[in-house]
Amino acid sequence: MATTTVGVVRGLPHKFLNSKHVLSSTPRVSFYSSSSMSEKTNHYAKLPPLPVPKLNQTLEQYIRTVKPLLTKDEFVITEQVAKNFGAPGGVGEKLQHMLEEKSAKEKNWLSEWWLDSAYLSYRLPVLVHSNPSLVFPKQIFSSQKEQLSYAAKLIIGALRYKAIIDGAKLEQDYLGKSPLDMSQYTKVFCGCRIPGLTTDSIRHTSNSNHIIVAHNNHFFKMIVYRENGEVLDDNDILNGLLHITQNSTGPAAGVGFLTTECRNVWGIAHQELKKDPMNSASLQAIEDSIFVMCLDKMSKVEDNATASSRVALQLLHGYGADNNSGNRWFDKTLQLIVSEDGVNGLCYEHAPTEGPPIANLADFIVNYAKESILGETKGISIPKSELLTFNLSAPVDESIRLAKRNVDMLVQDVQMNSFTFDKFGKEDIKALKFSPDSFIQIAIQMAFIRLHGHPAAHYESASTRRFHGGRTETIRSCLPEIVDFAKIHLKPNQSPQEKYKALQTAISAHKAYVGMAINGQGIDRHLLGLKRLAIENGVNIPTFFLDPGYSTSNNWRLSTSQVAAINDMVMCYGPVTPDGYGCCYNPRRDEINFAVSAFYSTPTTCANKFGETLKGCLEEIRNIATSSIQSSL
Ligand code: COA
Repeated sequence: MATTTVGVVRGLPHKFLNSKHVLSSTPRVSFYSSSSMSEKTNHYAKLPPLPVPKLNQTLEQYIRTVKPLLTKDEFVITEQVAKNFGAPGGVGEKLQHMLEEKSAKEKNWLSEWWLDSAYLSYRLPVLVHSNPSLVFPKQIFSSQKEQLSYAAKLIIGALRYKAIIDGAKLEQDYLGKSPLDMSQYTKVFCGCRIPGLTTDSIRHTSNSNHIIVAHNNHFFKMIVYRENGEVLDDNDILNGLLHITQNSTGPAAGVGFLTTECRNVWGIAHQELKKDPMNSASLQAIEDSIFVMCLDKMSKVEDNATASSRVALQLLHGYGADNNSGNRWFDKTLQLIVSEDGVNGLCYEHAPTEGPPIANLADFIVNYAKESILGETKGISIPKSELLTFNLSAPVDESIRLAKRNVDMLVQDVQMNSFTFDKFGKEDIKALKFSPDSFIQIAIQMAFIRLHGHPAAHYESASTRRFHGGRTETIRSCLPEIVDFAKIHLKPNQSPQEKYKALQTAISAHKAYVGMAINGQGIDRHLLGLKRLAIENGVNIPTFFLDPGYSTSNNWRLSTSQVAAINDMVMCYGPVTPDGYGCCYNPRRDEINFAVSAFYSTPTTCANKFGETLKGCLEEIRNIATSSIQSSL
């Protein structure tokens, strides 16, 4: 049984809370790849290279996992296509050989391809479609000063965490006994995605000394270090925020709206903006900043979302042109958000890093904000800040107008259901001798089957950080054993013993797939590598990748992820198919936080119904286990 502990960094020694960070003065900018950045962290554990699975193993797993998604006739064809692909001397073997040669020369054969395919070449807007948000515990502010004081604490907390990362003082993360790659942490701060005409890039700056504060759609550059390189204290930051809010009482045109656009559209506008030297300098100040702090106004909305779902939506997309969507720079790797009504959290651009390092950062800064007490504001020290100005040409003006219209349409389409399932949590599931993650995954697939009458391709992220520069692999949670269990459970007249046996089989099958995925033996990244090699070497795209069975198995109607955090938080993101659901969860000791999303424009999906069905499935699965265990006593 694999036991895992992701993120021991959460328990950072308290002494780091007071560490001073000294800056060197010249910023350095780089456009990085995953492999080059991880060289920086080689004082952490040395990790093995990402392996290449055997071709026949991948194809066997592919056939097994595609089966529940196809009719009998479709499956016969897909199975044959897969067997032909893997036939001795065939194109699959040729590509496999090329991949093995590549992997012998590189520590992570996947990094560049993954960054490009999953993120930089993706052309839909980053908000909703790619950027996750993390909801922090809600605050109550009775004045703007309280809002800004809290924001100041989050800023200082984040800068202290940055100092720990920069000083390579993070505790090594582990998954079970295996140390994990730490390079993602070095990309959380000072990064920004830059839009391109067909593909984007990531700009990363070393030694930046400022953050950006967004207020009323204005962007201010605020220096957050003293001349001797020490981080300013909370009161200095608070003074700076007060000064900024006093100087931005009316709304700005909203250049930030451009970051909500489709990437090609934003790429064109970015080129146009940059023609003007003042704009170019303002863009550079944003892109090279350490992070963005968004000081939001209360979102005025008329929808039927619950209070917790509204919080999630405000952090995810800012609730449109009349609310806070222009008070963002969605390309920035890290945006902290504090709203006047106590909503707070973060939104991050996904290309450089996964959820767990972000959740660890969030736990750190939320704990810092809880522990830190601000003294009286002296009002004498105001950090240097500068309003960033833009000359907006007619084409850029028009782009902003269209971006506002488009973001409103997107915002109106997203349905979110963020809730806490409070009947039991991780510890109760462990007491039943089940893996909590597998248990939850089975409930999610079962909820889909119950609502829609058939299974769905189901993506769960698994960490491959056991390997050099590792990121994620897909856990294909729509496994035959899980679908069998759901069918047995949903059929009338099945005995409790039969159901329990099917549940045990389903849990074991999921856990085994998790084991494969975290050990670099999953199938989806391997298949991506083979496909990319074919494209890059001018080999005709093999029929395997053109088979409808392949597209069906990649049409992730369930896009799910566990992002564990100690505090009462939950990560949220949009669905990745128009007719799908996003479902992220934080399994806590005695409860599970969920954020389920769907698109209103697809009449067959509903995040509220899905959430209700999921709650029922979780309880039913537990009842199967408890009643069976009790009857065997
Ligand atoms: N009986 C009792 N306890 C069990 C058990 C069983 N049969 N199986 C597991 N457990 C325990 C584990 O020991 C662990 O204990 P802990 O709380 O003391 O650490 C706990 O239950 C959780 O284990 P499990 O639910 O099996 O999940 P996991 O922590 O191994 O997580 C993944 C599984 C796939 C989520 C994890 O490996 C992973 O990859 N996480 C990162 C995902 C990611 O990157 N997401 C973000 C993408 S943006």
